Amino acid sequence: MKVKLAKTAGFCFGVKRAVDTVYKELSRQENEKIYTYGPIIHNEEVIKDMQRQGAIVLRTEEELDAVTKGTVIIRSHGVEKRIYDKLEAKQISVVDATCPYVKKIHNIVRKESEEGKFIIIIGNPDHPEVQGIRGWAGKDAAIIQNPEDIEKLSIKNDKKVCVVSQTTFNYKKFQYLVEIISEKSYDIIVLNTICNATKERQTETRQIAEEADAMIVIGDKHSSNTQKLFEICAKACKDTYYIQTLDDLNLNQLGSVETVGITAGASTPNNIIEEVQKMSELSFEQMLDESFKTIHNGEVVEGTVIDVKPDEIILNIGYKADGIITKSEYSNDSSLDLTTVVSTGDAMTVKVLKVNDGEGQVLLTYKRLAAEKSNERLKEAFENKEVLKATVTQILGGGLCAEVEGVRVFIPASLVSDSYEKDLSKYDSKEIEFVISEFNPRRNRVIGDRRQLLVAERAEKQKELFARLQVGDTIEGVVKNVTDFGAFVDLGGVDGLLHISEMSWGRVENPKKVFKVGDNLKVLVKDINDTKVALSLKFPETNPWAHASEDFAAGSVITGKVARMTDFGAFVELAPGVDALLHVSQISRAHVDKPSDVLSIGQEIQAKIVDLNEAEKKISLSMKALEMAEPAGDAQ
Ligand code: F3S
Repeated sequence: MKVKLAKTAGFCFGVKRAVDTVYKELSRQENEKIYTYGPIIHNEEVIKDMQRQGAIVLRTEEELDAVTKGTVIIRSHGVEKRIYDKLEAKQISVVDATCPYVKKIHNIVRKESEEGKFIIIIGNPDHPEVQGIRGWAGKDAAIIQNPEDIEKLSIKNDKKVCVVSQTTFNYKKFQYLVEIISEKSYDIIVLNTICNATKERQTETRQIAEEADAMIVIGDKHSSNTQKLFEICAKACKDTYYIQTLDDLNLNQLGSVETVGITAGASTPNNIIEEVQKMSELSFEQMLDESFKTIHNGEVVEGTVIDVKPDEIILNIGYKADGIITKSEYSNDSSLDLTTVVSTGDAMTVKVLKVNDGEGQVLLTYKRLAAEKSNERLKEAFENKEVLKATVTQILGGGLCAEVEGVRVFIPASLVSDSYEKDLSKYDSKEIEFVISEFNPRRNRVIGDRRQLLVAERAEKQKELFARLQVGDTIEGVVKNVTDFGAFVDLGGVDGLLHISEMSWGRVENPKKVFKVGDNLKVLVKDINDTKVALSLKFPETNPWAHASEDFAAGSVITGKVARMTDFGAFVELAPGVDALLHVSQISRAHVDKPSDVLSIGQEIQAKIVDLNEAEKKISLSMKALEMAEPAGDAQ
């Protein structure tokens, strides 16, 4: 690989002279302030360096006017005469770093003006150099940069004309404009004041770019002459790179070229040129090799996917050889098509298995690194007792499997819930929370525990519930289990017992006929004893004995159903929870041996209440009393 460095690269004579002048003045500086009128060069790095060393950049004429003492350095562009006059009047010392080629133009226009000539300056009217030149001409002067500007000129016929140019103006355009001016039949003299430094740099750059496979243009992004060099190079060489410093250069892009050309703008500082020179002494291959990192087996590296096939991935890992991940080192899934999960350009973090696989490629693994990372993650979760969330992937006979970061976690059936669960299928594909209770990656054993979370959660709920629960409260709950003696009701973390005797004011034969699991109930807290809560559905407001004196007053006739019978009488249900005794002797005027001879269970009867004992909740009935009353009724 050949490197060709342009001889004209970098500072032109005038810029070098100005930069050297500033550093010379700064090194001489004792207590005196050193100013530059305008940035001395189109390169921010150099300007910052000068400022670090004490130079003060005056960017406007107002800033210049504010200076009262010190030294002002005039840059290579030069300035108008009045600026010198102003500084002289203020007795401020001036160091003139105007490029001698520009100074020469100042002298020409001053002299030709004094001789009565009209001065035409071909150049950009906004450029400080052109404004400086204009400031040395008399009042009969104009700046032109286009043919239209020539049409607007107003020059007396007998006036002689002197044409000069901005030093960096395009030579072909200058010639073209001079031709148009000449056609106006003025008496003119034309002085080509274009600086050869620019032309020579551009010519040499073009020649190198035409021969090179790649071109590097070094210079500040704001430098117009560097931009021009870039344009010239880009036209002649498609691989042209515009860089400010060596850091901007991606050596990988130049890996396969044979000839590299290097040029630099007029404001590119010497230290960068020196780096370029050093670069030209080294072969690019050597530099590329140096730029590649070294890698070791077991090292974790970053890479970019440059090719994917169904069974392998090729990565650029910034090493001189590419890396390869075989399917088995990507996933355990042998049916996986890698092109469906990885794309060219993807960034990947991988681990080096073997720096050289025997065919010059680096053997990499993604799977093992991922597993290591996952194990790390689980270890951390295990040590910190962190609550993990994962989806159940498999239901086994003895428990559940969930996957956390690609690692299988087994949750034994005994640790799935805080109560025995016969059927675990309801957990299939469900997201559950658990902690790692055992972590042994060597034995491939990672055990999850959901139970302790539920127990802790329940304990917390219990605590909270017991703190606010009071006897007499009405609370909502869900039937969790029904037995022959009662129902267990989940009150939100605490189970309460609703005993069969508390299910109704009346009699309940079998709780299972009244309640089923999942029923929502509003229950009364009857008693709290440690962690046991007794519940009831016998709310005081529904107590049938509450209005017994009115509802079951002695003397009133009621209708009821025979609920049960004994030899001495029948019990008749007047309302749920209110049974009255119909003594065998009160069944009929006729002799009744035993109640079952004349009555049957469930039979509806009419009887008279003959006695009410509220205190003992006893009511006595008589059917006989009604029979006895009937004749009187008939008599009416
Ligand atoms: Fe002077 Fe030519 Fe440079 S005019 S400043 S040497 S480009």
